[in-house]
Amino acid sequence: MADWTNCLNFGISIAKQASEIVLSAFQQEKEVKLKSSPADLVTETDQRVEKILISTIKDKYPEHRFIGEESVAAGEPVELTDSPTWIIDPIDGTVNFVHRFPFVAISIAFTVNKQTEFGIVYSCVEDKMFYAQRGRGAFVNGDPLHASGQEDVRKCVVVTEIGSERDDLALSIMTSNIFRVLKLPVHGIRALGTAAVDMCQVATGGADAYYHIGMHCWDIAASAIIVQEAGGVVMDTDGSEFDMMSRRVIAASSAAVANDIARVIKAFPCPRDDEDIRVCTSPAGGSSTPLHEEEEKEETRK
Ligand code: IPD
Repeated sequence: MADWTNCLNFGISIAKQASEIVLSAFQQEKEVKLKSSPADLVTETDQRVEKILISTIKDKYPEHRFIGEESVAAGEPVELTDSPTWIIDPIDGTVNFVHRFPFVAISIAFTVNKQTEFGIVYSCVEDKMFYAQRGRGAFVNGDPLHASGQEDVRKCVVVTEIGSERDDLALSIMTSNIFRVLKLPVHGIRALGTAAVDMCQVATGGADAYYHIGMHCWDIAASAIIVQEAGGVVMDTDGSEFDMMSRRVIAASSAAVANDIARVIKAFPCPRDDEDIRVCTSPAGGSSTPLHEEEEKEETRK
């Protein structure tokens, strides 16, 4: 079995270096551009950090491939092949970054034969370096991570995100999912504004579950292996096997908790990341149909 430890260590060192750019820009005013929605933001720092990460990796590993959030936004396709591939989110939590809300992360996953070999999530402001390598455990700043192992959903803290979709159908389903999870009941719901760091909370045991619909592979590929290596489970929101391209995820302390959440939440339609469409299929700009009617329509689509 190939040993990718050198690549992991290299990834950790370049994430650390790139964080200096993120941190020095953090307190500054930023020029903000919109991408797929009024809440899907990008700054010059996102683009600059991604370019630096990719060119630094290419210098050392010229044969490796890349899937990067801002490269995809600029028109590159999402192609996960058997080749060694770095999946990069230069700033996960760009809305936080713009507002100086102190949770932003550099997220880097590395796959070979479409299997994730390691994941790195560097939560820059907190100075927490989360990482995991397949079969070798998960760590934060060198200390081992362990999911809580909680099996009773009624004793869980659940993390989720509303994401950047703002059309009626997506908002209606996401807000009613929060209602349904609260009614399980659970101890509480939290959101930090970065999918990567949210999911790492499950790996620390500080949260017991996380679910999200509409995020992208670069948001969660690294944290998925961190959760798994910490002893947690990762699955699709419909209870099937985790697929980083599906834009749906549940991460949890146990299969029992993941299944209890999968049972009550619903998904809204989103094209896969590896489809050649980069916006959600829910009606552009929102539908004028009342929310309850949209929900009923969704109910019949399930
Ligand atoms: C976003 C964050 C956010 C999640 C969005 C993501 P970005 O990533 O992870 O928490 O709700 O769905 O797109 O755009 O800041 O890299």
